[in-house]
Amino acid sequence: MTPYIGTSTSRVDGHAKVTGAAKYAGEFNTHDLVYASVVTSSIAKGRIVRIDASEALRVDGVIDVLTHENRPRMAGTDEAYKDETAPEGSPFRPLYDDKIRFSGQPIALVVAEQSEIARFAASLVRVEYEQQAHVTDVYRRRDEVALEPGADPLGPPKSRGTPERALRAAEVRHQGEYYVPIEHHNPMELYASTVIWEGAGKLTVYDKTQGVQNVQRYVCSVFEMKPEDVRVMSPFMGGGFGSGLRPQYEVVLAVLAARALKRSVRLVLTRQQMYVLGYRPAMIQQIELGAKAGGTLDAIVHGAVTVTSQHEEFYREETGWSGLLYKCANAKYAHRLARLDLATPCDMRAPSAATGVYALECAMDELAVALKLDPLELRLRCYSDRDQNTDRPYSSKKLRECYRQGADAFGWDKRNAAPRSMRDGGELVGWGMANGVWAALQMEIAVRIALSANGHAEVSCATSDIGTGTYTIMAQVAADMLGLPLENITVKLGDSTLPQSPVEGGSWIAASVANGIATTADAVRKDLLRLAKRMRNSPLADAAPDDVALVDGKLVRKRDTSRAVPIADALRIGGVDRIEQEKSTTFPEDGAHAHNVHSAIFAEVKVDEQLGIIRVTRVVNAVAAGRILNTKTASSQIMGGVVWGIGMALHEETLIDHNFGRIMNANIAEYHVPVNADVHDIKVIFVEEPDNIINPLGIKGLGEIGIVGVAAAIANAVYHATGKRVRDLPITLDKLQR
Ligand code: MOS
Repeated sequence: MTPYIGTSTSRVDGHAKVTGAAKYAGEFNTHDLVYASVVTSSIAKGRIVRIDASEALRVDGVIDVLTHENRPRMAGTDEAYKDETAPEGSPFRPLYDDKIRFSGQPIALVVAEQSEIARFAASLVRVEYEQQAHVTDVYRRRDEVALEPGADPLGPPKSRGTPERALRAAEVRHQGEYYVPIEHHNPMELYASTVIWEGAGKLTVYDKTQGVQNVQRYVCSVFEMKPEDVRVMSPFMGGGFGSGLRPQYEVVLAVLAARALKRSVRLVLTRQQMYVLGYRPAMIQQIELGAKAGGTLDAIVHGAVTVTSQHEEFYREETGWSGLLYKCANAKYAHRLARLDLATPCDMRAPSAATGVYALECAMDELAVALKLDPLELRLRCYSDRDQNTDRPYSSKKLRECYRQGADAFGWDKRNAAPRSMRDGGELVGWGMANGVWAALQMEIAVRIALSANGHAEVSCATSDIGTGTYTIMAQVAADMLGLPLENITVKLGDSTLPQSPVEGGSWIAASVANGIATTADAVRKDLLRLAKRMRNSPLADAAPDDVALVDGKLVRKRDTSRAVPIADALRIGGVDRIEQEKSTTFPEDGAHAHNVHSAIFAEVKVDEQLGIIRVTRVVNAVAAGRILNTKTASSQIMGGVVWGIGMALHEETLIDHNFGRIMNANIAEYHVPVNADVHDIKVIFVEEPDNIINPLGIKGLGEIGIVGVAAAIANAVYHATGKRVRDLPITLDKLQR
């Protein structure tokens, strides 16, 4: 019945990608294309007094220079700029007025016959500013805006019990402050838009985005255009990680130029320009834990300060994860925002959990040291089968199994608890562990299936495939649900004219679209049965829809597979050459259960004692995430998350010169990410986690969970190796030698 779901099917778009047939936003061509280049602000705050484009305009091949002074009309309300993932506040409007809100802000657009000419001419645009004092350092604004506990699902949860009293009474306490710097997404593909001027004001927009319909609605609203005049496409995406959830400024500027010139326009941002598209907000966290000497928790107090811009309030549930995970009667949360003169932060892989769980899981390790308890044993003693924040059971939670299988695969039982006790030649060896947690989300989605008499099906949905493997899992699920070979399925996505989809993010697309395909395939099967019954002496004459399944190109009776009607026969008898169905799938609120995915991470580091160089030599990540649709693409997701966790622990940090309010390492030479030499042995384990509550197919999604807890496991391993606790990331060798 299910030959494809759960297998390690290779990517159906793999061939297109490795041969270059897959086209990305900056690669679509048309005759008469012109090229745009952005001029950005060199100050962090103030206003533009004058822009002198005369020198740029004298360059041969330059067509126009657009600024806030000469641009075409754009909408004037904040509402018009709010996309489906916008936070509270006033969204940034590129080229709208003379106000400078952050360094690197786009302030002019040069359009030319060639991209090199546009870029050269952009360097000739002279700007005079009136500068104001700026603040870009989170440590100078840590007390600004306090979010009200319990006020919204993304803010800090309400406290429970009597945390202060419990903390005072605790037999063993730990208190620590943990820091995660600003980090950037750095996808391989540069942000780009190619806007095709179709005539009469109609546009086809190839944009790098995680949500074509989100961008389509946004463009319509910002430019006051009719929905039928804007089609947004993004068939492939070279990495997004959250930076493409909101429409980014390249699409606004490319559309602006196309409308101003009535021509097709391409804008590709530079790597440096991408550093204002959003980032993981820096986060200062204070954690206090109180425990009984036996290793059970009495109190968790978690406070966080996260960065946002002056114009929008971006935050996620950074503090909420800590009280959810472990049995603990008393918990207290506080979350403040530091308003800085920077662009607004945005989601980045496991937003809030990657950072919040880092602090919690390091603090738990420190508590285990104080208790003289094995860190895994501490977690088992605090294990909870209920979500502690909402006091609900989980629809499924196989974290114990993750601990068991992960520890076995790693050899955790051979760990000597004393720091600096394990060595390999000149290197200190450290073993650390942590857990990960993420939400198992699902969103309303629509899927269309067109089944032809030749047994070929086209499955379409406006979702994106940001590189995670959505094309492939959609094809697998459709093949199984329709009883067809994989190669008979064509998947269409990344086109705003296709059936409704939310943005691809939050790890919700796999669960949403797979169940969506099942719903629509059901409708197709019912149509086929209706047609098959018209057959003279139909073998399915008395069959009800649930009695039949689609197998091997036939509609067959489940209890008696000899009674079957081939798809082609059913269509012929019905006098149609195809069946088309489009259905929307919703996921009813399940107030009775918490929906989460979990993981246990075990990490080994080797630290050169003289130089402080840290290598992450082994990582085991054991994940419980419901039914796994594709073990190959799923493993790749988790492996990518682990690599990113290595980066978070040891390499990544966006550096700002606070005197200028400017990012100093806006390139992938100086913004360090792990390279092959930094990545050693990574083992991914999926534990069995049947879940018949969450959705009909028992799918939870695992895009984000791979990174959560990894930095903590590595930081804990570094402590175990060296006896030094570095609480501010990244753990660089200078901090270790201090
Ligand atoms: Mo993800 S941070 O929702 O792309």
